[in-house]
Amino acid sequence: MKFGTKAIHAGVSPDSATGAIMTPIYQTSTYVQDGIGNHKGYAYSRSQNPTRHALEKSLAALENGKHGACFGSGMAAIDCVLKMLNPGDEVISTNDLYGGTYRIFKTIFEKYGIKFHFVGMQNADNIEAYVNENTKLIWVETPTNPMMNIIDITATAKISKKYGIMLAVDNTFATPYLQNPLDMGADIIMHSVTKYLGGHSDVVMGALICNDDTIANEMYRIQNSSGAVTAPMDSFLVLRGIKTLHLRMQRHCENGKVIANFLAAHPKVDKVYWPGFASHPNHEVAKRQMSGFGGMISFTLIGDKMKDAHTVLNKSKLFALAESLGGVESLIGHPATMTHAAIPKADRQAIGVVDSLIRLSVGVEDAEDLIEDLENALS
Ligand SMILES: Cc1ncc(COP(=O)(O)O)c(C=O)c1O
Repeated sequence: MKFGTKAIHAGVSPDSATGAIMTPIYQTSTYVQDGIGNHKGYAYSRSQNPTRHALEKSLAALENGKHGACFGSGMAAIDCVLKMLNPGDEVISTNDLYGGTYRIFKTIFEKYGIKFHFVGMQNADNIEAYVNENTKLIWVETPTNPMMNIIDITATAKISKKYGIMLAVDNTFATPYLQNPLDMGADIIMHSVTKYLGGHSDVVMGALICNDDTIANEMYRIQNSSGAVTAPMDSFLVLRGIKTLHLRMQRHCENGKVIANFLAAHPKVDKVYWPGFASHPNHEVAKRQMSGFGGMISFTLIGDKMKDAHTVLNKSKLFALAESLGGVESLIGHPATMTHAAIPKADRQAIGVVDSLIRLSVGVEDAEDLIEDLENALS
């Protein structure tokens, strides 16, 4: 099946009891057994739930993977990957990444004896210098949040395979519509489903997708043992959201291009970070591994003053001032004080998260209205 058909049909089938075309919300904690141990594949909803199961199958299909698992948030999905490691293991991670990912690495897993190396991966050759016999995981986010750096997944997978290291890719920004990391050699894909997959700003959820049966066994063992699962109602909402993922992403990409070009030509704007520009340092990699450039854009203001950034954020109206991204409505945020406040100032400035950096999640409204809103906010 092609992507749009998969988005609508993969993983779901009419309900066997009633024929309902939409997967029912199996709002139940447990399932009656005919005799001891004799159940219909579902024993307890932390372990399996039919609504969640349909979503897990749908997500696996969208990413061309065999196995999918859903969690109570993107962070719970990341937590699951890290729990596959042991004390003494080392992780090589993108240095420009979502602040919450940095926080869970540094403040939760470092305490349990896991060592992290945060590395600029725009040139994949930088990674190999950090590999040693303890390296067990390479963590890649691409495009990165918020600097929109692009990391070459195929080149990184070559290194991970050479040394037998697991490669995990946070595919939240690109979504399976734009990029399929398993096809490029990644072992695990992680999603903050909260964002484009859900798409309507009404659910917090995470997911992992993989092909390897051994990794899948670990993933399901930890999902069940730690119990950070997602609810049937939320699974239903995301199943519904996914049915329009391809339509929404197409419009996010179109609007993203219009807004990126508008910002690049604006006299008050200094730098614009968007992988669709030919001037983006890894534009050629983006063109090769993504089928479009998405609706996430970051930009800085001439003079780099935090107060100027705050003025823009306070004056925009259609672009709502809020955490998160990937919903149908446009959002505006200030990484230094919002999503990336967990990263020490010197570290965030070193990767480009300066005081005036503003991040946009361009929604699916009419582009003319979005431009008018930004014009007002910048004036
Ligand atoms: C790239 C990325 N990864 C992971 C997460 C964490 O996901 P969640 O907020 O669903 O826990 C986020 C959240 O903003 C994100 O942007």
